[in-house]
Amino acid sequence: MIEVLGVTKSFRGPGREVRAVDDASLHVGKGEFVLILGRSGSGKSTLLGLIAGLVRPTSGSVRIKGNDIGLLSDNSLAELRAREIGFVFQFSGLLPTLPALENVLVPTLLCRGGPGTRSRAREILARVGLTEREDAYPATLSSGEMKRVAIARALINGPSLLIADEPTGDLDVDTEYEIMDLFRQLNLEGMTIVMVTHNPDLACFATRLYVMDRGKLGLEPGPFPAKDREPGNAAAGAPDDE
Ligand SMILES: Nc1ncnc2c1ncn2[C@@H]1O[C@H](COP(=O)(O)OP(=O)(O)OP(=O)(O)O)[C@@H](O)[C@H]1O
Ligand SMILES: [Mg+2]
Repeated sequence: MIEVLGVTKSFRGPGREVRAVDDASLHVGKGEFVLILGRSGSGKSTLLGLIAGLVRPTSGSVRIKGNDIGLLSDNSLAELRAREIGFVFQFSGLLPTLPALENVLVPTLLCRGGPGTRSRAREILARVGLTEREDAYPATLSSGEMKRVAIARALINGPSLLIADEPTGDLDVDTEYEIMDLFRQLNLEGMTIVMVTHNPDLACFATRLYVMDRGKLGLEPGPFPAKDREPGNAAAGAPDDE
């Protein structure tokens, strides 16, 4: 589904060049749940931008569903993104002047709007546990609720690939595992997921785990057993032990 081959992304800062992503290669097969783990500044968000076609590489190639995105026009790339990819940004990026439901509907303005879209948005908000909050403006939502609206927005066009940048960052552990349970369900329903986190405890959710360090990406050998968790929390156990 995704093939990243020897990709480098450099940024030119004042007097120096930053190699945010340095000769990275990554493979994401259909139906996988890929986690990318790494500390702050290691290049994770830049890599996700490259995978989603939001950032053009300095060198190397990125293929999404067989399309070499370096060869696509801006319009074709935008179409491919709108059709196939849901992206959850690290900082949720909700529009402050729109209530939750309207924020979820924003991607449908560009693609696949039409009858039934509004009820679909309501269904997705219900799925992320926000039925009661559809009329709430972002400023009145908690940070976990904002993340869930951003996840619902990423799902509205029915993407085959969900890319999520720290969707559980800054959340308490129970809310974090609620979101991971939702992702696990989506994955079991066939959605391919690529997710960035700095929390090594989430490794047990991955079918494939990469670690990023100063722009370099390495594949970790599995399996990734679940760490012991307190009873009563949402996701004790490995992904496939239910
Ligand atoms: N547009 C840009 N211009 C210049 N430098 C950039 C740009 N975007 C990222 N960088 C630099 O590239 C490096 C990697 O940044 P990136 O945001 O990808 O890291 P990250 O792993 O996502 O960090 P965090 O966990 O804090 O979100 C950092 O040194 C950052 O300062
Ligand atoms: Mg980041």
